[in-house]
Amino acid sequence: MIQTDTNYMLPYRPRRLRKNVFLRNLVKETELNIKNFIYPIFIVEGENVEQEIQSLPGLYRYSKDKVAEEVKRAVQDGIQGVLLFGIPDKKDEMASSAYDENGVVQQAVKAIKNAVPDILVITDVCLCEYTNHGHCGIVKDGQVLNDESLSLIAKTALSQVQAGADMVAPSDMMDGRVGVIRETLDDAGYSDIPIMSYSAKYASALYNPFREAANNAPHFGDRLSYQLDPANAKEALREVELDMEEGADIIMIKPAIGYLDIIYRVKETFNCPVAAYSVSGEYAIVKAAVKQGLLDEKRTVLEFMTGIKRAGADIIITYYARQIAKWL
Ligand code: PBG
Ligand code: ZN
Repeated sequence: MIQTDTNYMLPYRPRRLRKNVFLRNLVKETELNIKNFIYPIFIVEGENVEQEIQSLPGLYRYSKDKVAEEVKRAVQDGIQGVLLFGIPDKKDEMASSAYDENGVVQQAVKAIKNAVPDILVITDVCLCEYTNHGHCGIVKDGQVLNDESLSLIAKTALSQVQAGADMVAPSDMMDGRVGVIRETLDDAGYSDIPIMSYSAKYASALYNPFREAANNAPHFGDRLSYQLDPANAKEALREVELDMEEGADIIMIKPAIGYLDIIYRVKETFNCPVAAYSVSGEYAIVKAAVKQGLLDEKRTVLEFMTGIKRAGADIIITYYARQIAKWL
């Protein structure tokens, strides 16, 4: 028998404020805003290409003539920022297509800037899509060289900015790259272009779908000699500190879901905007579970995004951005 006549004198009843949707809305602490989302896009060479990415269902690789249409659709959805990744035809030891003024990203930036004025165009700065070995820097005797890579990384950033990029996002994890990019941009008269640094980029298993999409998997070895060990948090804080000293404007943490403590600690420790990159593996996990009928896509994605924001992220980079725009 259920007792119905009890009335305990509880000092506080949290359920009072959960009674209806108006009260719940009134006390909501975290709200997602589409203006804080960035949508990543993959660019390939050629014309009239719009090719679905097997590892990222629902996403496409676009050629420069097609990408502006996708960016237009994103703007219509309410997206304010895109992050571009280039997939060149030509790869070599020196990653020469990365800093070619007619490179795949440089051309796409121009095309987007011509066709869609009201959006931030952010470019990923790295060499791994452009090197014939798939590492994020120059390789000699099986080692990824740091300082030898820096000038090429800075050259890449500069050529993207010359093409019209509004912000650059270095993802290589070479020591000192933010400082060298800052100096290079300043010297060329671009002191107003911000740097969003992948400051705490972990050596994660969750990048595999991206590597299929961007064809940038390392041909030998792994990225453990430059990306962070997932076991380390204090080391991430040190990386962030260095990037801020070198002039980073926005600090990024990547991946997101497994690294909420890092997002929280960075936001608590430093006075700077924090971005979190919910990576390809996070997208793929949800897509796969949804396909099997195990998860509700909208509720799962919005819950993850709310968690990332609650942890302290001001900005979220996600392949779900366009979908989230429609949901919000
Ligand atoms: C390369 C780069 C990677 C991602 C973005 N830029 C990963 C890597 O291959 O190390 C991963 C993004 C994702 O998984 O969504 N510097
Ligand atoms: Zn890279």
